[in-house]
Amino acid sequence: MRQRQFFFVVLIIMTLAIITFMSYNLHSTTKRHSPALANDLRRLAVDLSETQRSLVHLPLQFYKVGESIQLVKHLIKSVDGQWVQEDKVSNSPPSKKYVTKREVCPEKYMGKDSAYGFPFYRKGFEGENCTDFVPIDKLVTMVATSPKELSQEELQKLFEGIATYYPRVPVIFMLNKTFNFERLKKPSLNLSFTAFDDLMHGATWSKILKMVTTPYALFAPDIMYFTDDVNLERLVRVLSENRDTIIAGGSHKNQRGEWDNSCRQVQFRNWTAYFADGYYHSFNDCIACDVLLGPFMTKTKQLQDLGIDQKLHFGAFHDLFWRLKLKHPEKVVVSCPDVMFDTYEPEVPDEKYDALVKKWDVKKWVESNGRVRWYGCRRGTHNSKSSCGIPGKGFTVPPCDLENLADIVKFIMRECENTGIHCQLNAGTLLGAVKFKKILPWERDADVYFISDNYTAIQKLRPRFEAAGYTFKDTKGTECCTNGRRTSGIFLIYGNGWKVDFYGRPTLEAEILVANGQQPTKVMLAGQWVTATRNPGLVARNRYGPNMYHHVEHWSIVGNTHGDALYKSGVWNKCPKPGHTGCLNQFQTDGDRQFGDHFMT
Ligand SMILES: *[C@@H]1O[C@H](CO)[C@@H](O)[C@H](O)[C@H]1NC(C)=O
Ligand SMILES: *[C@@H]1O[C@H](CO)[C@@H](O)[C@H](O)[C@H]1NC(C)=O
Ligand SMILES: *[C@@H]1O[C@H](CO)[C@@H](O)[C@H](O)[C@H]1NC(C)=O
Ligand SMILES: *[C@@H]1O[C@H](CO)[C@@H](O)[C@H](O)[C@H]1NC(C)=O
Ligand SMILES: *[C@@H]1O[C@H](CO)[C@@H](O)[C@H](O)[C@H]1NC(C)=O
Repeated sequence: MRQRQFFFVVLIIMTLAIITFMSYNLHSTTKRHSPALANDLRRLAVDLSETQRSLVHLPLQFYKVGESIQLVKHLIKSVDGQWVQEDKVSNSPPSKKYVTKREVCPEKYMGKDSAYGFPFYRKGFEGENCTDFVPIDKLVTMVATSPKELSQEELQKLFEGIATYYPRVPVIFMLNKTFNFERLKKPSLNLSFTAFDDLMHGATWSKILKMVTTPYALFAPDIMYFTDDVNLERLVRVLSENRDTIIAGGSHKNQRGEWDNSCRQVQFRNWTAYFADGYYHSFNDCIACDVLLGPFMTKTKQLQDLGIDQKLHFGAFHDLFWRLKLKHPEKVVVSCPDVMFDTYEPEVPDEKYDALVKKWDVKKWVESNGRVRWYGCRRGTHNSKSSCGIPGKGFTVPPCDLENLADIVKFIMRECENTGIHCQLNAGTLLGAVKFKKILPWERDADVYFISDNYTAIQKLRPRFEAAGYTFKDTKGTECCTNGRRTSGIFLIYGNGWKVDFYGRPTLEAEILVANGQQPTKVMLAGQWVTATRNPGLVARNRYGPNMYHHVEHWSIVGNTHGDALYKSGVWNKCPKPGHTGCLNQFQTDGDRQFGDHFMT
């Protein structure tokens, strides 16, 4: 079933691609290099590559979509007016067209039997002894910072390390303005110091990038030691021989000795950036990555054209990788883990990424180790005060806001349960629990019923609501009577941009069940069992009518004047920002497996 769905998606995307391509060709035979077409093709390449990732368990389909991605990338290049060229894989000589002069000697695998390099295997692949190469100091500039945790002696050692292996390579070392570098012994290397207020600021790296005159630049923030584990020739070779590869990094080892290949994949969906370990393809024994977490070498001119965001005080490299992934899918980023950097890995507090996530409208950040960073308005986090609540029509409710609404409902239900007050879920809140076991991803408010007899008991709960940070409004008292029981009574509970309608009813099914010595029915809501109507599935079906398991946005969004009018499921509104990660119309209008984090892992 899932397989067929994916095929369908792929088919549609490919058809669109062909139609787009054809129509452009028909309408603009004179204007061949249309930037609009190139942009459409880029979006298509990104979509396809996300589709491919979800097919990773279906090798044949994965391979087929991979072929289509290659095709689209070729189209991008021909539209961009560049000639089409394949990535070179190892053993095949670099194309004469691209590399006019060999920059580094090719390498050769010497380890024909396992005795070569024994016992430590620090040898195996070796640069050939060619004569027509460019000296490494004409190719690479090293741009480095060291962590403030490094002592004067350790810094001295770092410079000596560079002097041992690459004495002539220009090094731009960025230092804190307050650092006294007069006291350093000048090591014998081509070193220049530059002082900045903020070493991680995008503006700092941007300025330095403009100073680089060699064709390659090694960006090495927070470097601690320098040994022959850093093989500059290896990185230059990969970049030099693969036209589309713009960045090549290596593994890194942190201050605790923990090694990591630095390679992460990232997917953007539902206002969330999901990071994952692993790789989908490799060449030259380097693995293709979306994001590198350690130092990397880049093609200077290409990076200068792309630029580094000068406004970001932190996370400018993430921004660069995200831009490459989403706007330049034909460019390749790799990690060659045999090249290893010793770096200091600082703990990054969530708020450091505030500007970055704001730029990209990311409200949740899930790291490959499962750590979640909340942005947007999430109760109990550093920016719980930032703009809260309900997004526009056509958008999903951001994860943080959805959790906030679930929190209020769960709080109410817990308070009811603990104090012997009869409460139960109603309307869309019940529908959400029935369909998703949580709040509807496009919800606009929540609805809970209580028994009117319990009105004064609820009034007494005001201080508890206020202590939890919620506004408690007592808007209407009870009335007499329906079938001899008090009726009505209205409370409104506000919090984090949301409203919960908390309405009194003369009788509730839950109470009837209890009076008959039975358990009230409970449904799962965002991780908590809460009381619902007697038969939740029946109520949901009878209330919402045919196709209630298909989806449709809230009644107020669809254009109805009240919640009781019947409306049809199965269509989303248009998304005001096509391609935005929060667009509802990127989801199917049926099925709940697609909503939530489990889909991504
Ligand atoms: C290059 O020459 C050195 C010294 O003669 C030798 O040790 C090394 O094995 C040669 N490398 C290759 C790849 O032939
Ligand atoms: C720069 O120096 C100041 C003062 O010594 C220190 O507080 C700050 O953390 C340093 N920043 C970096 C990035 O080293
Ligand atoms: C040091 O590097 C710069 C490029 O950054 C170069 O212009 C200069 O000639 C180099 N100096 C020496 C002594 O090699
Ligand atoms: C809530 O109402 C029910 C039914 O009338 C009653 O049995 C119960 O004692 C009430 N609970 C409280 C806390 O007043
Ligand atoms: C967005 O993420 C939240 C939290 O992970 C999830 O509950 C919700 O269903 C997701 N919405 C969509 C439309 O996937």
